Amino acid sequence: MSIVDEMYVLNNGIQIPKLGFGTFLIEDGDPVRQSVLWALEAGYRHIDTAAVYKNEGGVGQAVRDCGIPREEIFVTSKISSQIKSFGESVEAIKVSLKTLDISYIDLMLIHWPQPFGEQDDTKRYYDENQAVWRAMEEAYESGSIKSIGVSNFMEDDLEHFLPNIRIQPMVNQIKAHIGSMDFKLINYCQERAILVEAYSPFGHGEIFDNDVVKKIAEDKGVTVAQLCLRYLLQKNLLPLPKSVHKDYIFSNIQLDFVLDKNTIASLDNINS
Ligand SMILES: NC(=O)c1ccc[n+]([C@@H]2O[C@H](COP(=O)([O-])OP(=O)(O)OC[C@H]3O[C@@H](n4cnc5c(N)ncnc54)[C@H](OP(=O)(O)O)[C@@H]3O)[C@@H](O)[C@H]2O)c1
Repeated sequence: MSIVDEMYVLNNGIQIPKLGFGTFLIEDGDPVRQSVLWALEAGYRHIDTAAVYKNEGGVGQAVRDCGIPREEIFVTSKISSQIKSFGESVEAIKVSLKTLDISYIDLMLIHWPQPFGEQDDTKRYYDENQAVWRAMEEAYESGSIKSIGVSNFMEDDLEHFLPNIRIQPMVNQIKAHIGSMDFKLINYCQERAILVEAYSPFGHGEIFDNDVVKKIAEDKGVTVAQLCLRYLLQKNLLPLPKSVHKDYIFSNIQLDFVLDKNTIASLDNINS
């Protein structure tokens, strides 16, 4: 089976395509519409956006224009990290639905536990995130959002969050790539049936300069990008590669190979 047909099953029973297409830093309008259309043409059926990327409009346009039935495409968006109250969250969900111009969102995430600019502060926003979550639970129960989750939540955030909410998150989207794997957090989530999505699977592009990774990819006869994605899949993570180039978008999805245990162990030990 090719990666384009492979699914993880979330803890609410919903299927999610194992590979997603990232859209961070792709401009709204034609640029993001074109990239998403190429991704869908290549076989991706899972698109990751966020309110803060300011490109939900173009993403939704591509989903409507592509000719693929809506129910075959999985769309993720995220509530901006600046939003930390129930009322604002209800409004933010409505705005995302309207901007995407689709009748439901497959997965909505809290983008960060803390507002942008405050990530290093000691204030953790435990109560505020529970208020945001209540708005997401309501949207989930109304059917306008099919699954709900978090992003950038560390173990400490989850320790305070999970016992105090009604519906457990289906996903935690975190930074994860060769050379930057928080195995403790990944295990913590996976033990609790929270799927871990790997953002920046190429370290935002920096991995392409890593000589050790380049050599391993060369030995295997695959590209560095393909090696990065296959590694994450074999860790049961869901990678979200981003590109604006048609050739990269198409080649990044060619993942019909398996890494042996020794290669995985070598990649585990790489420090970026
Ligand atoms: N939840 C969060 O807080 C969060 C944070 C960051 C990212 N994300 C999500 O994760 C997605 C991916 O992360 P990211 O955008 O930070 O970076 P990334 O996917 O790790 O890397 C993207 C970079 O790699 C390049 N690239 C892609 N395929 C390539 C290939 N085959 N060969 C050479 N270069 C290649 C891209 O170039 P071109 O684009 O020029 O082709 C781009 O410069 C985002 O788009 C977003 O959806 C989420």
